[in-house]
This record gives sequence, structure tokens and C-alpha cells, in this order.
Amino acid sequence: MIVFSGSSCASLGRRIAEGKGLRIGEAKIDRFPDGETYLRLVSSVAGEECVLVQSTLGNDSLVELLLFLDMLRDQGAAKVHVVVPYFGYARQDKNFNSGEALSAKTVLKLLCQLSDSITTVNCHFLGREGVFKFHDMDIKNLDAFPLLAKYFKAELKKPILIAPDKGSLEYAKNASEIIGCDFDFLQKKRLSGEKVEIQTKELSVKGKDALILDDMISTGGTIIEAAKLLKSQGASSVSVGCVHGVFSQGAEKVISAVDRLICTDTIERDISKVSVAQLIRKSL
Ligand code: R5P
Repeated sequence: MIVFSGSSCASLGRRIAEGKGLRIGEAKIDRFPDGETYLRLVSSVAGEECVLVQSTLGNDSLVELLLFLDMLRDQGAAKVHVVVPYFGYARQDKNFNSGEALSAKTVLKLLCQLSDSITTVNCHFLGREGVFKFHDMDIKNLDAFPLLAKYFKAELKKPILIAPDKGSLEYAKNASEIIGCDFDFLQKKRLSGEKVEIQTKELSVKGKDALILDDMISTGGTIIEAAKLLKSQGASSVSVGCVHGVFSQGAEKVISAVDRLICTDTIERDISKVSVAQLIRKSL
């Protein structure tokens, strides 16, 4: 088996391959003068089973992924498995308003046509670990919350785990069992793409190290509002872990609103303190 990394997962792809003693495939990824993506396979893949690891944050990384998958097949790969640690467009999984594009379905359809299997991590429209059918297409979803839980178990003295909304409820509940701490959740109302309202609720966080775990942080609105509420109710500290550090408006304003912030390497960031390499490796 040969593991290839797209440009968004250069380190993660290497970690996956090295831990399993797999060959690391080489490809040249560049740009044409007009900004279009240029790809050329350096390693030979004829008759080989290949894995391509690429997160799709932004349109360029998605185009790179599609071109890469088709190139592997064109060059004679026996099988092509795609691992998309962060699955972009996953939040547009239904028609919230009439006439909208079902973007999550469209992206999955393209990946299905170009690969033999699709694996992702804490995909927004799935909610649990397992193999699921989405619009009749198979997708395997891995759960990195246990990895975040183990990281914080070693870091916090008096933890209490808080899920910031229903989307992360099941994942976060399981994580609280790993940490062996109390669990509670918040009710969130999204007012716009950037603004959220967290409903006030009495929480037993006084004197405790509150830990918020979420599948992703995008604008940071959810975490900032949740942290305000936890601090106003006397939490001694507020730590935050997320699987996907999207940080569409930068991580700084979230960092300054909490005591500790980390994410995994599904999107490679300076604060990617937890790697999903082992989780993905085990699933291959
Ligand atoms: C929502 O259901 C997710 O679990 C996240 O809470 C959300 O996507 C975070 O978005 P933002 O950082 O923009 O509030």
C-alpha cells in the first residue's frame, strides 16, 4: 500500500504511513500561472493499492483532491482509498432554505466516482462513529473525541465536560466517560453564519476546570459565547478542544477568550497537539 498526501495533509499523511511502515508516495503539486492546480505523479502506482490523505478546507484543496484521485486511477492504481480528515462542505447537508445546493452530497458523489472507499473524521453530518449511507453512498466516519479526551484527562485536575450544542452531544458524552467526569450541554441558537446565542442555563461549573469539546471551530462564535457563560458561572478555567480547527477568522480571538485551546491535525495548525494518525492508520 502506498500513502500519498495532498498539500493540506503533508505531515499527517507521513505520520500515517510511517507508523504502519507503508511506502510514502511522491507527487509534484504546483500551480499554473493562472492559479490552476498542476499535479504530476512521481511514484509509480501501477497495480498498487493507494491511499490519498487530503482535507478539503477551501475550494483549491477540493479540486486538488479530485484531480489527484483521477490521476492515481489513470496511472493504473489497483485501488484508491481516499481519507478526507476534514470533510469540507459537510455543513450544507440539507436544504436549510428552498433551492439550496446539497453541497455535502455533491462532494461525496464526486469522491465516490473517483475512489474505492471514503473515510473521514468527525464528519459534521454523521454524528457518530461507523459506516453510514448518505444519499445511498457509503462513508466511514472515525471519532477523534476519545483522543481529545485522553489529552485533557492528563491536563485537568477538576474537569467537567460541556458540549456546546446538540451537534457534538453524543461525541462529547462518550468523551466524558473516558475522562471520568460530569457532563452537561448547552443549547445554541445560530442567528447568522457568524453570530450565535447560547441560552443561559445553570451549570455545576463553580471551581471546576470546564472543558468544551466540539467537532469544529469555524468563526469561534460558539466557543466565545460558551466560554463567557462558563466563566460567569464561576468556572476556574475554560479549556477547549476541537477536532477541526477551521478558524475562518483566525484562532487569536478564540485563544484570548479561553485558558487553553488545542485541535487535532485534521487541519494542520500550530495548536494541533493531538494527531489523528493512529486513528486513521488503524482503520486502513
Ligand atoms: C455546530 O454544529 C458545530 O458543532 C460547531 O459548534 C460550529 O460549527 C462552530 O462554528 P463557529 O465556530 O462558527 O461558531
